[in-house]
Amino acid sequence: MKFSVLVALAAAGAMAATPSRRDDSPVYTASKTFPTQGFDGMYYMPEGTEQQPRPKINRVDGQGYFPDSIANPYYIPPRPPSNEAVYPRKKESGDKENVISNIFDIGHQLFGNGNDNSAKCKLCRSALSSLKELVLIDPELLPEVAESICKTFNLATLFGLANQCEGVLGKGAYGPIAAQLLAYGDYSGDSTDGQAICAMSPVQFCDWPDRTLSDDFLDNWFGGSRHAPQHVVDSWEKKRDQAHQRKSDNLLRVAHVSDLHIDPRYLVGSEANCQYGDTIECCRMNSRNYGKYAGYVPWGQIQPWMIDEPANYWGAYKCDTPWSLMGASMEALKSVGGESGYDLALFTGDITAHDDIFHYSREFVLYSQQAIMDILKEHLGDTPLMPTLGNHDSSPLNLWAPHSLPDGRGNQFSWDSDYVAKLWSNKGFIDGDAANQVRRHYGAYSMSPRNGLRVISLNTDFWYKFNFFNFINSTNPDVSGMLRFLTDELFAAEEAGERVWIIGHVLTGWDGADSMDGPSNLFYQIVSRFAPQTIAHVFFGHTHEDQFHVYYYNDNGNPTTASQDTRNVVANAFVAPSVTTYTNLNPTFRVYQVDPETYEVYDFDQYYSEVDEFDDLINNNRNHGPVWRHLYSARESYGNFGKSQSAGKYVAPVQLDQGWWPDGAPLNASFWSALIDEMSVNPSVLDKFSKNQSSGSKKGNTCENDTCRKANECYMRSGTSTQGRRCNQDYASMARG
Ligand SMILES: *[C@@H]1O[C@H](CO)[C@@H](O)[C@H](O)[C@H]1NC(C)=O
Ligand SMILES: *[C@@H]1O[C@H](CO)[C@@H](O)[C@H](O)[C@H]1NC(C)=O
Ligand SMILES: *[C@@H]1O[C@H](CO)[C@@H](O)[C@H](O)[C@H]1NC(C)=O
Ligand SMILES: *[C@@H]1O[C@H](CO)[C@@H](O)[C@H](O)[C@H]1NC(C)=O
Repeated sequence: MKFSVLVALAAAGAMAATPSRRDDSPVYTASKTFPTQGFDGMYYMPEGTEQQPRPKINRVDGQGYFPDSIANPYYIPPRPPSNEAVYPRKKESGDKENVISNIFDIGHQLFGNGNDNSAKCKLCRSALSSLKELVLIDPELLPEVAESICKTFNLATLFGLANQCEGVLGKGAYGPIAAQLLAYGDYSGDSTDGQAICAMSPVQFCDWPDRTLSDDFLDNWFGGSRHAPQHVVDSWEKKRDQAHQRKSDNLLRVAHVSDLHIDPRYLVGSEANCQYGDTIECCRMNSRNYGKYAGYVPWGQIQPWMIDEPANYWGAYKCDTPWSLMGASMEALKSVGGESGYDLALFTGDITAHDDIFHYSREFVLYSQQAIMDILKEHLGDTPLMPTLGNHDSSPLNLWAPHSLPDGRGNQFSWDSDYVAKLWSNKGFIDGDAANQVRRHYGAYSMSPRNGLRVISLNTDFWYKFNFFNFINSTNPDVSGMLRFLTDELFAAEEAGERVWIIGHVLTGWDGADSMDGPSNLFYQIVSRFAPQTIAHVFFGHTHEDQFHVYYYNDNGNPTTASQDTRNVVANAFVAPSVTTYTNLNPTFRVYQVDPETYEVYDFDQYYSEVDEFDDLINNNRNHGPVWRHLYSARESYGNFGKSQSAGKYVAPVQLDQGWWPDGAPLNASFWSALIDEMSVNPSVLDKFSKNQSSGSKKGNTCENDTCRKANECYMRSGTSTQGRRCNQDYASMARG
């Protein structure tokens, strides 16, 4: 029955069914044919599912189409163009040979045996200071020296770089960036730039420096206004109480998509179960599984019998999103939006594939930006979309430099922010003022897409740990000035009585693996200052998994001292799971129901497609594409607090309705913190949560023992990296293999 209905509908082309609460009934079945509308034409269009489509992507800057070679599975450029490397300026002359030999001496002591931890920390810092000496004399020599250090001390294995010392540290990748980091950081005396780098290193040589913020700093930061004025609190509480009694039956529908990771170089039939060799990325013409075949293969000449798991046309667990799945996901998003579409959409970043750093280039990033904004616009129509930059959306990836970098090096990423400013405004997503902010603030902007709501979008590379520029002047928690911009916008919103959503890519909390201590701590102070009366919610992506974390009240510059009692919670961050299946995940997107005045979330629904069904689509030559289903609704799944209530552990300021969160109350921070309390007395809730964390993937783990459960509750209560680091680090992902 189900089958024949599907076939009948699929034969009629793309189709929409009424979204249903029953979790196993399809809400959308994609067409087998790639949706070409929205593109000017195709470089290649498959007849069936034999190979990926390749749309022609027209640049917004008037320079014509991106060439097919940028994103063609049969040609992968070995290195970015050499003119994309940015070195620091040469400053001194001196004896290079001597400095280099000193660096290797220190290396032998550092990576050899027989030194205790504090000695290693000192050695690591003096290595940085010698490297700096070298860079000041001859910046362009650094990539070669870094490669040679990498090979001599076997850092590739130690740091997980496989055989890619040259690829990763060389001229076309992080080499020139490392030279800038060395030239512009301070590694003298007791400066903490070096200490932070040596703490960040995969072998942790130093402790993290203390990044708590002083009273003076905070007084100055908030211009003396450390707490929300009483009239602001009073008027928010009045508005809130009215809204919660009224319970709008006119809720807005807001789509949230994250981590799209288009892989235009995805080759159908290539190795989907790959190991790190010539490339980090599976489903590429040069992806290899050495267990299946370890012999020599000329580049790109791999034969079907050498393949362990051929890449499916629709996607694969270890791979990024091919065009086929991107098209189908967009159609599903559109269909779930229905006739009238969404009221608003959020995109929390990461457009470009998880490619090797040496396969990135500016063109590759801009191609991905343009292509995805084209297809989003086509499928969202007039829905206002609020985009955000992810750490994969620059080249070299993960990086963004502050304007204050000396020697005119502060504009080395303007090619990117200038392009997206034009792109986003051209699509009608942001207005002219916001576009100017995007140019000025590294992609960050503040905009009011609806009356009473301000969305502030950040470039979270400025707190991302893998953005090496953040280690320069790292005692300053806001080198870029972006958090200053955020704070000023929040003051303006407070003054205007607006509600604020902060959107960004890299989360500040959870296990603490992703954000720098200084900026995430300052962000925590800002959230505490402006929530709940002005900040309604925070939205992130980045981990690819379905998570959340909360912020508790803290105004002393040291969030590890915050009381993590539900009565002190002020804000929550939604961490939305990904469209990419990388790794071991189902593709998914989310739809919130939002009050039109308080802009608080009342519920959300998660929709997904089952990767495990993709083989059937191909092997049995089905007449349709992937099927989307409803995974869960947040209120229905997590809204019962009966167990914590009977155990006397329920302390949220909300009167339950027979154990359930009442209909009139939003899923605000109190809900999410109370949910953690509930999980601690009712482990089955956390078990369910952990299955949904990998979007129902058959490859996902479940958190079913006490160590894992405790760690997860700890992540959920952590809003900064210092808080997250105090949790057991082993259980942060339910899907990474
Ligand atoms: C670091 O601080 C110095 C001294 O205050 C300043 O000149 C330089 O511009 C700063 N570097 C960055 C990247 O902000
Ligand atoms: C959440 O909503 C409830 C119900 O109105 C309210 O009592 C509580 O203070 C809110 N919590 C936060 C953190 O805003
Ligand atoms: C997700 O959560 C819902 C509601 O708690 C639960 O019924 C469902 O089993 C979970 N999904 C998966 C795939 O486990
Ligand atoms: C606990 O659960 C995690 C997550 O599924 C699993 O990886 C780990 O091996 C389990 N530990 C024990 C001791 O069973």
